Amino acid sequence: MVSSLDGAVAAGGAGSQGLSTPADRELFRSLRRAAGVVLVGAGTARDEDYRGVRPRRPTADEPVPGPPPPVAVVTGSAALDPAAALFTDTVTAPIVLTTAAAPPDRREALRAAGAEVAVLPDLAPGTLLGTLARRGLHAVLCEGGPTLLGALVAADAVDELRLTLVPVLLGGPAGRIAAGPVAAAPPRGMRLAGHTAAGDGTLLLHYVRPGGAADARTVHPPNE
Ligand SMILES: NC(=O)c1ccc[n+]([C@@H]2O[C@H](COP(=O)([O-])OP(=O)(O)OC[C@H]3O[C@@H](n4cnc5c(N)ncnc54)[C@H](OP(=O)(O)O)[C@@H]3O)[C@@H](O)[C@H]2O)c1
Repeated sequence: MVSSLDGAVAAGGAGSQGLSTPADRELFRSLRRAAGVVLVGAGTARDEDYRGVRPRRPTADEPVPGPPPPVAVVTGSAALDPAAALFTDTVTAPIVLTTAAAPPDRREALRAAGAEVAVLPDLAPGTLLGTLARRGLHAVLCEGGPTLLGALVAADAVDELRLTLVPVLLGGPAGRIAAGPVAAAPPRGMRLAGHTAAGDGTLLLHYVRPGGAADARTVHPPNE
């Protein structure tokens, strides 16, 4: 997630892309390279004209890269345009996570556009993550937006947070990175596992949930 110094998650009509800086874009690409699946809310997929994840370039370590991860979109309405780049400009078929309450003709149109449409009993975080896990998709990179991240925070389902602070003050009505239901008390404490300051003043913050999978992968300071 990317935020201005005063907490805005979108700038003008360009959403988070209007905030992002070169260091943030490089981090965004590197996180996608390690992801099993990119999970995103339909609001972000629509506003930011999402497309499929680009294939990785061959390297000495990986001369024949595997297919890029799918994008999984959470939508109660299934109101996604079958002609959108999400369906037409992708190597790996996207996954649409929805429920039987979404109009059947919309679900069918997305299937016809090449998506795997998963009709779930509900769109609670446990159901979403369980559905992805049953497909072998355990490394879930959630790219927002605030409604989806808010649901994950409220369900205490966030293991790791990459937060980019961009050195601008925006004011205005833009919301914060997580919105929606209040998380259970006490607040979930997170451990700072790393931080990088880019030359332009962008701060890349890496927080992990103590005791979680990401916590075990990261270096702990010797005095901890
Ligand atoms: N700064 C950042 O890092 C960042 C990152 C991502 C997005 N953004 C910005 O955030 C804005 C979009 O915000 P948003 O809150 O609308 O985004 P969102 O979470 O991407 O989308 C909300 C929509 O997704 C579906 N949805 C998400 N979670 C759901 C759940 N648990 N249960 C049921 N449906 C769920 C619903 O779709 P339906 O309406 O189809 O039912 C809902 O209307 C854009 O301006 C975008 O640019 C900023």
